[in-house]
Amino acid sequence: MGGLRRLEYRGYDSAGVAVVTADGGPLAMAKKAGKLVNLEDYLAAQPLPLGTAAIGHTRWATHGAPTDLNAHPHLADRGRLAVIHNGIIENFAVLKAELLATGVVFASETDTEVAAHLLAKAFVETRDLAEAMRIVARRLEGAFTLLAVHANVPDVVVGARRNSPLVVGLGDGENFLGSDVSAFIEHTRDALELGQDQVVTITSDGVAVTDFYGGAVTPRRFTVDWDATAAEKGGFRSFMDKEIHDEPKAVADTLLGRTDPAGGLILDDLRINEAVLRAVDKIVVVACGTAAYAGHVAKYAIEHWCRIPVEVELAHEFRYRDPVVNEKTLVVAISQSGETMDTIMAVRHAREQGAKVLAICNTYGSTIPRESDAVLYTHAGPEIAVASTKAFLAQITATYLLGLYLAQLRGNKFPDEIREILTQLHAMPDKIQSVIDHAGPVRELARSMRDAESVLFLGRHVGFPVALEGALKLKELAYIHAEGFAAGELKHGPIALIDEGQPVFVIVPSSSGRDSVHDKVISNIQEIRARGARTMVIAEEGDTAVEPFGDDVFFVPATPTLLAPLVSVVPLQIFACELATARGLDVDQPRNLAKSVTVE
Ligand code: G6P
Repeated sequence: MGGLRRLEYRGYDSAGVAVVTADGGPLAMAKKAGKLVNLEDYLAAQPLPLGTAAIGHTRWATHGAPTDLNAHPHLADRGRLAVIHNGIIENFAVLKAELLATGVVFASETDTEVAAHLLAKAFVETRDLAEAMRIVARRLEGAFTLLAVHANVPDVVVGARRNSPLVVGLGDGENFLGSDVSAFIEHTRDALELGQDQVVTITSDGVAVTDFYGGAVTPRRFTVDWDATAAEKGGFRSFMDKEIHDEPKAVADTLLGRTDPAGGLILDDLRINEAVLRAVDKIVVVACGTAAYAGHVAKYAIEHWCRIPVEVELAHEFRYRDPVVNEKTLVVAISQSGETMDTIMAVRHAREQGAKVLAICNTYGSTIPRESDAVLYTHAGPEIAVASTKAFLAQITATYLLGLYLAQLRGNKFPDEIREILTQLHAMPDKIQSVIDHAGPVRELARSMRDAESVLFLGRHVGFPVALEGALKLKELAYIHAEGFAAGELKHGPIALIDEGQPVFVIVPSSSGRDSVHDKVISNIQEIRARGARTMVIAEEGDTAVEPFGDDVFFVPATPTLLAPLVSVVPLQIFACELATARGLDVDQPRNLAKSVTVE
């Protein structure tokens, strides 16, 4: 149950478990709609027997409403076979029609149940669960991780993966399968990566992996560099609160060990020839959600430092609009989980077009880094709250490192200039800590605004993606209408939204710098105040010019302009988290969302 709890961030529409007992009797199963706690309460009253193997699932509904019946596992073979599934079986309608024609009766509306009945038939023919899985996997289209148990083979769990994640945990006299390592981290930190189109069989003392045709495969072994306590709340009222407090460490750890003895920057896993990187004439960042906003910040920094054009594209839009991508394009895929299906598909499309792909990712053993040509890992540690916070800061940090790496490689900056920026970056964790330590007034404001109906966010330059992220956090966590705008765009339309009392956050850029837009943003504040807005201003310490114009002013430590998002977004994360908590909402598991969306 601990494993399921740690995976619950992936989906919380329902939860279920099936247990195989040594006596070969029918499987014991329990499943309940709603969050895992519903299943836990049910099992506390009606415990399942102890068994030799078990499978468990938390669901993010795709096919079929989040009901008890549609919850996984799904049974077949008169209750002797159970299946759980992540992903979507795209040809399920055809397969279902075929099964219905042979008299199979379906108990749910899910695509998954098709796999259960197909497996049952294949098992009758082969008497070998792994072979049955291979036969079925070859017939399925779409994305799937499937796990199956059968009462006739009580010490075996068989899994298959195509496009959806699955990792193996290697224990002592026990082995595990999980969508990510947090499922088994309390038992072991030794793990195996599974590749595309592979079938795995685990028993208490063995693991065997083949491709979908039975050919043997040797999976890569890795050790997880964090333990179970990293995935616990550690005394905080929510994972989100804890993860915001983890931010200084997430940034510091992402910066750690990035320079070689000669002072040069290093990436984690570089399978791109340096000559190819030198010849890159365009960078396209592909990502979704918060990760895409990290990409927006990257655009400002990388273009400035490296003089390479950078486009930022939502991963799901990328491959469907026939983008101009070729061998001179570097595609940067940013993903906390490494499993976002939209981003995976963008990566594949980019590689098909001949582009090199560099992944910025927080999860070892996940699909995106495995399928990329180079990887820069963020070391934010496990992020459990569904809405991203510390991973965002780590992603931004990683893009700065990438920008500096490219600047070094291509000779856009002198080594001492790079060293200077690195020194400034290394000072960021303390500055972020100071924002967190002085967040009392932001929390107070958030509590006082618990009944707000709409909040706008304005930013300019790197403050623009910060405004977008501030709005996204508020939507995700508090279900309040929130929009982020480029401050300069205000006068071209959004200013019509300003009315008496409309709350507006304004992220004020640094007043230093040659091409400062500071004064223009101050003018924007006055324009909205003149129309009745309530202004909540985030500005750099010492910026006395803003004080007269903010109903509330929150100061953050001064930083070089390009690095400012690492501090200016933190009050907005805290604001959203505190306001949602004051509304009595579950900030770790907002409604309708899932942390890694493994379907397109
Ligand atoms: C989901 C999450 C977001 C996240 C996005 C991208 O929508 O709810 O918080 O930013 O996926 O996730 P990734 O794992 O690719 O960074």
